[in-house]
Amino acid sequence: MKDLRVGVIGSGGRGGLAVHAHRPGKGSVVAACCDSNPAVLEWNRERYGKDVFTTKDYRKLLDQDLDAVFVTTPDFLHEEHALAALTKGLGVYLEKPMAITIKGCDRILAAARRERARLFVGHNMRYMTVFIRMKQIIDRGDIGEVKSAWCRHFVSYGGDAYFRDWHSERRYTTGLLLQKGAHDIDMIHWLTGAYSKRVSAFGNLAVYGRCKRRPKSEKGIATFNAAHWPPLKQQGFSPVINVEDQNVMIMELERGILGSYLQCHFTPDSCRNYTIIGTEGRIENVGDGPESPIFLWNRRKDGYEMIGDQVFRGGTVSASGHGGADEVIVQEFLQYVRKGGKTTATPEAARMAVAAGCQATESLRNGGKPMHVPALKE
Ligand SMILES: NC(=O)c1ccc[n+]([C@@H]2O[C@H](COP(=O)([O-])OP(=O)(O)OC[C@H]3O[C@@H](n4cnc5c(N)ncnc54)[C@H](O)[C@@H]3O)[C@@H](O)[C@H]2O)c1
Repeated sequence: MKDLRVGVIGSGGRGGLAVHAHRPGKGSVVAACCDSNPAVLEWNRERYGKDVFTTKDYRKLLDQDLDAVFVTTPDFLHEEHALAALTKGLGVYLEKPMAITIKGCDRILAAARRERARLFVGHNMRYMTVFIRMKQIIDRGDIGEVKSAWCRHFVSYGGDAYFRDWHSERRYTTGLLLQKGAHDIDMIHWLTGAYSKRVSAFGNLAVYGRCKRRPKSEKGIATFNAAHWPPLKQQGFSPVINVEDQNVMIMELERGILGSYLQCHFTPDSCRNYTIIGTEGRIENVGDGPESPIFLWNRRKDGYEMIGDQVFRGGTVSASGHGGADEVIVQEFLQYVRKGGKTTATPEAARMAVAAGCQATESLRNGGKPMHVPALKE
């Protein structure tokens, strides 16, 4: 079997995911890297060997002999980079969110269809063992018919990761309800098996707007630092912050399911906590690591017990990155490029997560007005 030749556009940061695709002689090899930062290209040559082609210009990367590319650049570049790669007929692993507008997603989907190219969107949470287990339990009917889905998302690293670089500006992300929330909206859609039809939201910049900014001339450092606490005492924030640091979204999904998503970027701790309620019980995860517990309550009681009537766990994994999900998702993408077939994450679902996130952002900037979520085009 000839190795697939893979390129990476945005080969630092999240582009590090491509290390899972570098297995010379075992199916795939990272053959080309593009990054605007020369230090990243230097790291790429060390990591992937002296034969790797490196460039600052993604067009030059796309001129190489490649089978597939990872697009792991910041959100606002996804559409441009994905369209260029799809137009070359390459298999594309595109990071979430698929794009920062609904129209952008639809253009990407149309290009993939037109070129018959294999497009895949990196919703890696669908590959985390704890959520795979949770979905299995829901799908086999343990909580009956699903009717409610709630997610609380505490983001302790928000102040470091999203308010010091491009993430802090609407023109690069639309907003954090989309940028960060794309994962959670997709999980709510996936766990319930239903897409959002209507959404409404509130959000504001409650804390980081009051923190000390860095001068425009200085580069932002978006690295997690546990000593950065409490938030209001911190400095070095982006000169422009026009995204929200807390968001509250409500969703009307298909089949009469109602959902809610709460996102806060100034909590001391981090956790994604989903509660799904059906006609015969309630299921909830605490944490997203492979060993995080999943509680299932299905016996009636007049009170609350923190530990469920049954307790499950996702189970350990031998793979690495984001609780094993990153290695697994990369292998599924490479398999898809080779053979096609069904995948757990799909571009259509990724587009629906963007559609709900964009419409909710529109809502929160317009007094919480309910917004229709446009369905996928046939
Ligand atoms: N699925 C996940 O769990 C996950 C985790 C982190 C990030 N992401 C996604 O990955 C993407 C990148 O996020 P990040 O935090 O790594 O961002 P980042 O700012 O670190 O950028 C990634 C890389 O792209 C490079 N780059 C920027 N502009 C470029 C250009 N014009 N041409 C070529 N290279 C360019 C940067 O130098 C960097 O090496 C985002 O869309 C984000 O949402 C997903």
